[in-house]
Order: sequence, then C-alpha cells, then structure tokens
Amino acid sequence: MMAVKAFIFKDNALHILDQNLLPGRVEYVECRSAEEVADCIKSMKVRGAPAIGVVAAYGLALSIINTCIRDVEGLRLELEKAYELLRSTRPTAYNLFWALDRVRKRILEASSVEEARRIALDEAKSIEEEDIEANRRIGLYGEKLIRDGDRILTHCNAGALATAGWGTALGVIRSAIAAGKRVRVYATETRPKLQGARLTVFELVSEGVPVTLITDGMVGFVMAKGFIDKVVVGADRIALNGDTANKIGTYTIAVLARRHGIPFYVAAPTSTIDPNIRCGEEIPIEYRSPREVLEIGCLRIAPEGVEVLNPAFDVTPGELITGIITERGIVTPPYEENIPSILGL
Ligand code: MRU
Repeated sequence: MMAVKAFIFKDNALHILDQNLLPGRVEYVECRSAEEVADCIKSMKVRGAPAIGVVAAYGLALSIINTCIRDVEGLRLELEKAYELLRSTRPTAYNLFWALDRVRKRILEASSVEEARRIALDEAKSIEEEDIEANRRIGLYGEKLIRDGDRILTHCNAGALATAGWGTALGVIRSAIAAGKRVRVYATETRPKLQGARLTVFELVSEGVPVTLITDGMVGFVMAKGFIDKVVVGADRIALNGDTANKIGTYTIAVLARRHGIPFYVAAPTSTIDPNIRCGEEIPIEYRSPREVLEIGCLRIAPEGVEVLNPAFDVTPGELITGIITERGIVTPPYEENIPSILGL
C-alpha cells in the first residue's frame, strides 16, 4: 500500500524519480554529484519541501563521496561549493536549508576525509529515516481529526512523492484509512505544474482511495455545495506566528474555507518551521518561468506578447489555520506562543 518512492540512495548514487514525467512514465535519474542533484531540484524532477530537504542532504554527501579529495582543506572547499549550489535551487522550502545546515555542520566536525564521508552519508540517511517517522506520527495525530465519511480537500501534492515516504497531508488521509475510516479526497489540479492532477491523483488512484479531481477555480463551488468537510494541505515554510507558505492557491482555499466554516489544517514536520522568521511577510517566495503558465504540457495556451506572473507559493495567514499537525502534536492558536513552545524555544 506504499506509494512509489521519490528517491532511492543505492551504491553511492541517488536515484531520483522524474516527477515531471508522471503519471505517464516512472523513470529514475541517477545522480552521483551535487550538481546533478541540484539540477533535479531546480527542474522539479523532485519537489515537495521534505523531499527537497532529504535529497539535498544526499547531494551534499555526494559532493565529498564521489570525488578524489585528499585533505580536509580540499574537502571544505568542495563542501562549501556544493552547499551554496544546493541552497540556490529553490528559495521557499525551508527543509532545504534545514537539512543542508545539519549535514554541513556534521561534516565540519570530522577530522579526516574518510570520517567526513561516513558522517555525511549517515546524517543524510538519518534525515531520510526521521522524515518517514515524522510523517507516520503526523498521520497518527492527524487521523484523529478525521471522521468516518469525511470529504477532504487537498491542494498540490503533499504525499509520499513530496517526502521520504507516507506523506504529510496525504499521510493524514492514509492513516485515517488505515484506522478504518472511509474518506473521499477532493484534489485540486494545481496549476501551473499540475501536481494535484498528476501526482496526488496518481498516488491515490494507485491505492484505491476515492478521489475526485477538480480545477483550482472550482473550490468555491464545491464548498458552497457542501461537498467538503475539511481541508488538509502541506507547507513549504511556516513562520513563528503560524503564517504558512504553501503552493500558490492555498491562500484562496483558506479564505474560502473560513467563508464556509470548514476547518483548514496544515500538516507538516517541525523541520518546515523556520525559527528565524516571525511572520509570513519575511518568507521568500519563488517566482518561476512564465513558460509554466503559458504552456500546458507542450501546448502553448496564450498569445505571444502577454505578461505573466508565476509565483510558486503564497502565504496563508495563521489566523485562517485551524491547526498545524506536526510529529510533536497538533499546534493550535495562539501560534506566536504555541509554535515556539513546540520547538522548545
Ligand atoms: O513546487 P512544489 O511542488 O515543490 O510545491 C510543493 C508544495 O507546495 C507542498 O504542498 C509542500 O512542499 C509540502 S509537501 C509535503
């Protein structure tokens, strides 16, 4: 019942599933260097904040594993180059920076090149295992919020494909099903990259979970018709006051949920919470190529000469969020007190 893996580390190589080809083709790209991993993150072959964090951790490890560095000085140079390159791939997902800092710090503690290689790989593996465990725990906390028969709306893909396994928002749904509850998922298609239509639907259909695909513009309609009981989405970066960056369109869904009195939950590991950011205005938002909006697949859909705006994420104010489901429990308002407290700050 486990969905396809977003990446597999084997024989000193990271094999990354090319999610741009889904649902049509299941193909893995072999990466043996930080440069190859950085390219996969940038081009969104791998995406989703927790998955980006784990593959970046492996990428940093690869920068010192598959190279013929001889001394600690050479290792540090190589490490810093790869660290900066991987950091520059996607600006919003906090897990990227969290994971890279964690691996870099451990590597810098090593007193030999061999020790550094071993430590780097061990740390990347721990980050991967901890993410799976965090998702399982998010699922266990989150499924208690779900009632038998609930119809749950989710946006983008916060599933096994966006994490090391199980998923955050989809992890809550998987855990509810494992607990014997019947649910129906409403998945938004998620323009422009269609992560909902291509990836969330792919995960759910392959496991036999009832899912209804809607376009992003239909959210108000399905809520007004009374088709939705709860919203559960993932997150890319959470500020200390609960403001949450997630896939573009999430904010619109949260406003509509409030209008219709529907609970709106964010499911995310604590590694997505940025302890340095007090509010959503400080979260860097990624702007991507106009081509993603101008084309669907290879088909051009708008005339030449048009100006395009393509922010990949928006920020949902904490005041619209009913609860944040983490591996340490469900955080509820007031977030400016309860988020620092769950982080032990
Ligand atoms: O641009 P993407 O596909 O990386 O955006 C992904 C999302 O917005 C997810 O909801 C988020 O990263 C959480 S994934 C568990």
